[in-house]
Amino acid sequence: MKKICLAAALLLILTLPACGKQEEKEAEHISQTQRTENTSETTATTAASESTTGRTTAATTTTAKQTTAKSTTKKTTAKTTAASKAVTTTKAVTSAAPPPVTQAVTEQPVQTETQYIPPETEYVPPETEQVTEQVTEQAAPQTQAATEKVTEKAAEPAETSPEAPAAPLFLVNTGESETLISWDAVYGAQGYEVWLRRSAEAEWELLLDTTGTGCSVTGIGIDKSYCFKVTAYKTYEGKRIYSERPTELSFPYLTQKDGVTYVDGLLVVNKTYALPSTYGWGLTAETQAAFNEMQRGAAADGLSIWICSGYRSYYYQNTLYWNYVARDGSQWSADRYSARAGHSEHQSGLAIDVNQASRYFNGSPVAVWLEKNCWKYGFIIRYPYGKEDVTGYNYESWHCRYVGREKAKRLTESGLTIEEYYGLTSVYS
Ligand code: DAL
Ligand code: ZN
Repeated sequence: MKKICLAAALLLILTLPACGKQEEKEAEHISQTQRTENTSETTATTAASESTTGRTTAATTTTAKQTTAKSTTKKTTAKTTAASKAVTTTKAVTSAAPPPVTQAVTEQPVQTETQYIPPETEYVPPETEQVTEQVTEQAAPQTQAATEKVTEKAAEPAETSPEAPAAPLFLVNTGESETLISWDAVYGAQGYEVWLRRSAEAEWELLLDTTGTGCSVTGIGIDKSYCFKVTAYKTYEGKRIYSERPTELSFPYLTQKDGVTYVDGLLVVNKTYALPSTYGWGLTAETQAAFNEMQRGAAADGLSIWICSGYRSYYYQNTLYWNYVARDGSQWSADRYSARAGHSEHQSGLAIDVNQASRYFNGSPVAVWLEKNCWKYGFIIRYPYGKEDVTGYNYESWHCRYVGREKAKRLTESGLTIEEYYGLTSVYS
């Protein structure tokens, strides 16, 4: 079973100086070639070649204003650490169960996740030290026996003081079909509650109330993010007293499906993460629809916007990139503004260049409008000013990436790039 484990990371907040003069020359290409895009890939080579001789007229000031620099409202995003550990046991919960399903490892029948799952096993007085045996290979034939051990350290004397039990330290091992959570027993705790939040906007769901120190969760959708919280409790004068500030582990985790990488359900393509050469079929319907709406919004504000470069196939991008390399005389130069084949967001069908893919567009009224408004339509300025070392590309005020309204709002409010927000790199290997 393939497993995905995430490491904790505190995001760095970078405020980088301008990289100086933009070397973006894509405009010259794109503006010349765009008419051929989306209609005939066979003309790509010619178009890309021709474009090297063309010049785009700068309609506006050449000063790259720093209107998009948003380095002041940064947030750090909690990142997670999950120790990697092989999970090859027989599963207490079968992956065939209708998702989403949650089950304590100490329990056999599959239950729906929203159900409260009372502990079925009796509390067993502490005798052994085993708390994480349920995720070891040896547990396979004796899962039940092994999992019962995890309950052995759980409970402690109750009704002694109102002092809150410490927050349990826990590990999350994520597999394709199930996720195993285990935690250390906490002194004084009578039990533990495991909570799940499926997105930043969702409510916390109680998955499990147990005296044990581990559970198995299935039905966590691949390509989704989620957050777990485990809190200890004890009862005092009839009331539960919970751990203060229980640890939360967020998993906007990376998944790979058909060679495509997702984080938090978001397709990721940058210098680190490539798309397969076969990926891409034009702009996605959502991207096109979002742009249409944005176009209406801009028109209402007296501005005319259009897509000067939308979907670009792997092969088209390859031609484009190598033409830039030939023109500039080095990959080092081209890599600052043009993606290598397989690494362009344009191949995903989720990216558009608006009006003019050129540094001359920076600071223009439309660029300023996009910066301020594109998130309302589900777009982000993907390569912001001052984030060149993070994204791997020069500032591109025209390059809008569709991420959906909710993520666009979240990312924009954070002032962070996708790389920063999710703790990703963007470097060629
Ligand atoms: N200009 C962007 C980085 C691309 O080539 O996809
Ligand atoms: Zn672009």
